[in-house]
Amino acid sequence: MSEQLALRGGERTVPEGFIKPWPEVTEADRKAVLEVFDTPRITEQQRIQSEGLAREWAEYMGVKHCIPVNSGTAALHLCVAGLGIGPGDEVIVPAFTFWATAAAVLHHNAIPVFVDIDPRTHCIDPALIEAAITERTKALMPVHIHGMPADMDPILAIARTHGLGVIEDVAQAHGARYKGRVCGSMGDAAGYSTQASKTLSSGCQGGLFTTNDDEAHHRAALLQYFGERVVPGREREEQEYNAHGLGWMYRGDMFSQAFVRSQLRRLDANNALRVRNCQFLTEHLAEIPGIETPLTPDECEPVYYNYVVGFDPAALALDVSPRTLREKVQEALKAEGVPVGQWQRRSVPAQDVFQKRVGYGSGCPWRCRDVATVYDIDDYPRANAFVDSHCYVFDVNPPNGLELMGLYVEAFRKVMGGLGQVLA
Ligand SMILES: Cc1ncc(COP(=O)(O)O)c(C=O)c1O
Repeated sequence: MSEQLALRGGERTVPEGFIKPWPEVTEADRKAVLEVFDTPRITEQQRIQSEGLAREWAEYMGVKHCIPVNSGTAALHLCVAGLGIGPGDEVIVPAFTFWATAAAVLHHNAIPVFVDIDPRTHCIDPALIEAAITERTKALMPVHIHGMPADMDPILAIARTHGLGVIEDVAQAHGARYKGRVCGSMGDAAGYSTQASKTLSSGCQGGLFTTNDDEAHHRAALLQYFGERVVPGREREEQEYNAHGLGWMYRGDMFSQAFVRSQLRRLDANNALRVRNCQFLTEHLAEIPGIETPLTPDECEPVYYNYVVGFDPAALALDVSPRTLREKVQEALKAEGVPVGQWQRRSVPAQDVFQKRVGYGSGCPWRCRDVATVYDIDDYPRANAFVDSHCYVFDVNPPNGLELMGLYVEAFRKVMGGLGQVLA
């Protein structure tokens, strides 16, 4: 007889209030933010924090230039602008990601072209990229999704062969490595998010742009501040009030930058704890029939932004769809106190903005060029299957540790052992 599930009135496995929130705020973080006030002129802190974060992140990444901005989307947009991508140009992006990856392309009047994912890593499948390249393609934009590095060597080789730029979306993968190289350091430019939930968190919103390319840096530096040439904090002395091109207001703020600088000191330690938590989950959840745990290629060192779990009813000889099994099990796990859920509800090309060509209105930017763009949802079967069959275990972050992971495993065992109650 299976144990009474919390869903059916049994006791929940993870006690209320047991899970500690992310990001952890330490005394050092508090001090770093409060120190922003400890200055004769608070407005000077804009430059001090921005330059400090730029220097420290460039150093961590081993890259030449960094510009702190106010979101990951802004950072990715600066990558697109920095590489000189323009109206009507195409950028290849994965069909499964947060849609900001593709939005960054649209923001520059360029056209996202989607490629399906590798079902093992859930990142863009390099084997499918060449078929999507046209004479208008200007760049490839791999996403290190869920903290898992994309397969960069074949991506870089394709880019070299076709003379394309490579933009890395590192919104979810600060500190992840591919063949020993840190994600964000391999392409021509990279964008990172420091939004609250991210592995490098500002507690609110923020982003970072990096590149080794002087020209890309120069363009991005202009465009992130109205298209004007000025160093943060030097506006009164230096501002020409002459826009050198269409720019935006993408500057980050000094409080969140001070917080990120403090968090950065613990990034590697926090990543190591999250990896340990997730490896523990894989070790134990892999033993449960019907559950698929993440696969890590030998060359990858992921940082597990979230922990991804797949459902395979065939392994249990169940006559239900992966989606039904996932939804029912998810519900039962939630009742047990496990923070599980879905993230994306559909592939990116399936979203209204692409299906209805909403864009800027009047069909732009797609109508601004002669070539028709097709976004057929069925062209991305792996992204669709992934959305149906997978969910996420959230709160795998430190300071939560193996005690909580043990409870997650216990809840999975309980629920999967009580599928009669779950599917009833
Ligand atoms: C893969 C990916 N790209 C880009 C972004 C955009 O970052 P932000 O929310 O900081 O603009 C996110 C954020 O959730 C993301 O997950």
